[in-house]
Amino acid sequence: MSIDQLAETAQAMVAPGKGIIAIDESTATIKKRFDGVGIECTEENRRAYREMLLTTPKLGDYISGAILYDETLRQSAKAGVPFTKVMMDAGILPGIKVDMGAKPLAGFPGELVTEGLDGLRDRLKEYGKLGARFAKWRAVITIGEDMPSGTCIDANCHALARYAALCQEAGIVPMVEPEVLMDGDHDVETCYEITEVTLRSLFGALYEHNIMLEGTILKASMVVAGKSCPDQAGIEDVAEMTLRCLKSSVPATLPGIVFLSGGQSDDDATAHLNAMNQMGSKPWPLSFSYGRAMQSAALQLWAKDMAGNTKAAQDTVFARAKANGQAALGQWKK
Ligand code: 13P
Repeated sequence: MSIDQLAETAQAMVAPGKGIIAIDESTATIKKRFDGVGIECTEENRRAYREMLLTTPKLGDYISGAILYDETLRQSAKAGVPFTKVMMDAGILPGIKVDMGAKPLAGFPGELVTEGLDGLRDRLKEYGKLGARFAKWRAVITIGEDMPSGTCIDANCHALARYAALCQEAGIVPMVEPEVLMDGDHDVETCYEITEVTLRSLFGALYEHNIMLEGTILKASMVVAGKSCPDQAGIEDVAEMTLRCLKSSVPATLPGIVFLSGGQSDDDATAHLNAMNQMGSKPWPLSFSYGRAMQSAALQLWAKDMAGNTKAAQDTVFARAKANGQAALGQWKK
């Protein structure tokens, strides 16, 4: 696979006015979401839910790619058409979550390191054959007392770099995701500092591992105050600080940056992205790769009446996709 092909895929992922929908919840995570709305977490319900999302009419107008979980990549729509074909026909690139989750980091109570490198080369080969064009690996950085440690940041960034190298070897664009969690009572300045240190460690590790940045996408968390901090930063402050932090740590060669929503409300996630895209020149396109902020409202509707509310749920997903697509251009109006 040439760098040109990787670069082409990466650029398509952040095409103007388009972003990613993250529907890659592991079985344990989607069970939590289903439990919250009273849906039984069976394989068929998971399949039907993902079918509802992926067959939303005209979704490809605002969505360039969708991140799937292993199970979903192998599933088909009710009529028998594989989801990967449904997606390609709609102009949506198939992506795959390949990490095996964040596990306790030995020797560092309360901190996590993401696992999943063993056997990854073979899994990526198979995912490529199944149609995956990009992959995602999420590292989790927790802010707390004496946390994060430099060891935790560097161990996670080292794993992200090794994952990215294996992806590029397999012709798959790596989406590297170092998520600084919103949990805690830290202020926005602390989030800025930790995000900056993390991104600098990440791009150092990517450099050391010969990663072609032209064929890589960053999935970043925004610079926000912790959820329980009494002093929450406003929309403009979050946008300004996030942009400043990214400019100080992310090389301009990168084809694009997408954000996770991380527990922000649907509207906040859209408003923050919109504000950043209204703030003058930037070296890279800024777009979205939202999970909860794309799905929550639709899931609630669908849960009330799976068959009867399919259209209403799809209209809701489409509305979120459109709003975020407009925010990716700085053209969203509430
Ligand atoms: P949220 O937007 O719900 O944070 O999910 C995005 C994601 O893929 C996290 O890994």
